Amino acid sequence: MLNTQQDRLMADIDQMVAAHGSTRSGLIPILQDVQQRYHAISDFAMQVIADRLGIHPVEVYSVVTFYSFLSDRYQGRFVIRLCRTISCAMAGTTAVAQQLRNDLGINFGQTTEDGRFTLEWANCIGMCDQGPAMLINDQVFTAVSPEAVHDILASCAKAFGPHTTQPVEESHA
Ligand code: FES
Repeated sequence: MLNTQQDRLMADIDQMVAAHGSTRSGLIPILQDVQQRYHAISDFAMQVIADRLGIHPVEVYSVVTFYSFLSDRYQGRFVIRLCRTISCAMAGTTAVAQQLRNDLGINFGQTTEDGRFTLEWANCIGMCDQGPAMLINDQVFTAVSPEAVHDILASCAKAFGPHTTQPVEESHA
């Protein structure tokens, strides 16, 4: 019987290791799975993964902090990444960024109190001729206008049902 959140996390990681392998090549897929399930990769998770793969925890930490899609901080159910590279900037990123700040009530690098949305900057995501471009999780949005921001966020919010001030996930192990 799994009693604690850490027990559950360890059991989950063991399943992920079984699925992706216990060698270095399994590291990123395992980290992606942990990120998706727990919305963050905690110090404890990094230690368990390092132990299971037989590598140093610093190596795991360096991978987590290198890739923008991985994070040791809790991230919301929807992670919004707005491109701030030059082509998008010239197409109007600043106004879109301000609309996102206004609608979500947070700044870049922050997560809404209810755990729904995280707002991040991104560098070029390969849609330079269709800017301003942004990602919400894996979905790409192009030619985003400030007016479109409200509808895009509303469509995300539909996934949650009635409003709640409780975090979407309690799993911060
Ligand atoms: S500059 Fe924004 S997608 Fe390339």
